[in-house]
Amino acid sequence: MSLNEKIPFLDLITPHRELEQELTTVFQRVLQTAGFVGGPMVESFENEFAAFCDAKYCVGVANGTDAVRFGLIAAGVQPGDIVVTVPHTFIATTEAISQAGARLDFVDIDEQTYSMDVAKLREYLERECYIDRESGKPYHRRYRAPVTAIVPVHLYGQCADMDPILELARRYNLIVVEDACQAHGAEYFSQKEGRWRKAGSMGHAAAFSFYPGKNLGACGEAGAVTTNNEEMARKMRMLRDHGQAKKYYHNIEGYNGRLDALQAGLLSVKLRHLAEWNRQRQEAAARYHQMLSSTDGVIAPHCPSWSRPVYHLYVVRVADREGLQKHLADAKIDTGIHYPIPLHLQKAYETFGYRKGDFPVTERVASEILSLPMYPQLQSAAQSHVVQKIQEFASVGALR
Ligand SMILES: Cc1ncc(COP(=O)(O)O)c(C=O)c1O
Repeated sequence: MSLNEKIPFLDLITPHRELEQELTTVFQRVLQTAGFVGGPMVESFENEFAAFCDAKYCVGVANGTDAVRFGLIAAGVQPGDIVVTVPHTFIATTEAISQAGARLDFVDIDEQTYSMDVAKLREYLERECYIDRESGKPYHRRYRAPVTAIVPVHLYGQCADMDPILELARRYNLIVVEDACQAHGAEYFSQKEGRWRKAGSMGHAAAFSFYPGKNLGACGEAGAVTTNNEEMARKMRMLRDHGQAKKYYHNIEGYNGRLDALQAGLLSVKLRHLAEWNRQRQEAAARYHQMLSSTDGVIAPHCPSWSRPVYHLYVVRVADREGLQKHLADAKIDTGIHYPIPLHLQKAYETFGYRKGDFPVTERVASEILSLPMYPQLQSAAQSHVVQKIQEFASVGALR
C-alpha cells in the first residue's frame, strides 16, 4: 500500500460493493411485495439467526437498545429493581436498564479481559446486599431494593466469563441478559458443560445490535433478542409490537420496536458471510498480535483459553493514548476510543452520586485504550503500516 493512503477505522463500502447485487434484489423484492414491517423475511432471518447463535428463538427488534430492554422486561425485571452491569460499556446498556424501569448499578471490570470482574460481582452480592427472608432475594443494603438481574457485556467481541456469572445468578436467583451487541458469533468454553457455547445462548436472553458497523450490520437500524425460553420469546414479540397478541388485541402496553422487513432481508444475505468475516477478523487480530509482540509499552488484547473472540474491535492499551492517537492521525490512520468516559462519571448519571475512584480499573482502562483499524477486509500491508507507526512512536520512549 502507498504511504499516502488513508487507513480507515472501518470499511463499510467494500462488503456492500461485493454484495451489491444480492442486496439490491432484496430491496426489489420488498418493493414488489410492499411488506415493509414484519412478515416472512423477518421470520426467515429470525430462524437463521437463532440457528447461528445456537438459541431456540430469535425476536427481531428495532435496535440493540430495545433488545436489552425487551430482554430484561420479558425475563421479569420490575420497576424499582436493581440491575447490575459494568461501567465500561456503551451507554445503551444502562439506558435499556433505566428504560425497563430499573435502577442501574455497577461492578468493576477485570483488568485483562475488560469484561465484568466476577470476584467483584460476588463481593457486591455478599457485602453490599443481604438476603431478604420473605422473598429470598438479595436486597441492596443502601438502596433498599432487590437486585434481580445482571447484564454482562461481551465487549469488543469477547464473551464475559459466563460460567461463574451463571453460577452466581443461580445461587442468588438472578436474571442474566447477555449484552451481545458487539459479539455476533463469539464463543465461550464452559468448563461446567465441557463445550463451547455461542454468545446469545447462555443467559435467559441475549441482545444483539445490527448497527451498520457491527460484525453483522444492517443498512440502517436493527437488533434482535435470542432466548431458549418460549414464553419469553412470546412476550418479546408482544413487547416489540405495542403489546399485541393479535391485531388490535393489546394484552399489555408495549413499544414500537419492530424489525423492518428490508433490514431483515439484507441481514439474511449478510449472515451467510458472517462466519467468514469473523474468521478474517480473527486472522487480522492474530497478525496485529504477532506484529505488536515485540513493541514495549503496548498491551495487546488478552484472550483467555476459554474465549474465541470475534474482534468487533481490536483495542490496545498504552500510557500516552492521546499522543499515540495523534501520531497515528498525522499518518492518516483512523482510530477510536471505546469508551473514553466511564459510565459512572457521565453527566447523565450525576444524580446517582458515583465518584471518581469508585471503579478504578474501568477508570484506568478508559484513559489508556485505543481501538486500531479492524474489519474483515483489512490488509496485512495496512496493518504493518499501523504497527510501524506505533513502533516509531514507541521508539522515542513516548509510550511509557
Ligand atoms: C455494548 C452495546 N450495547 C448496546 C448497544 C445498543 O445497540 P443499538 O445502537 O443498536 O441500539 C450497542 C451498540 O452500539 C453496544 O455496543
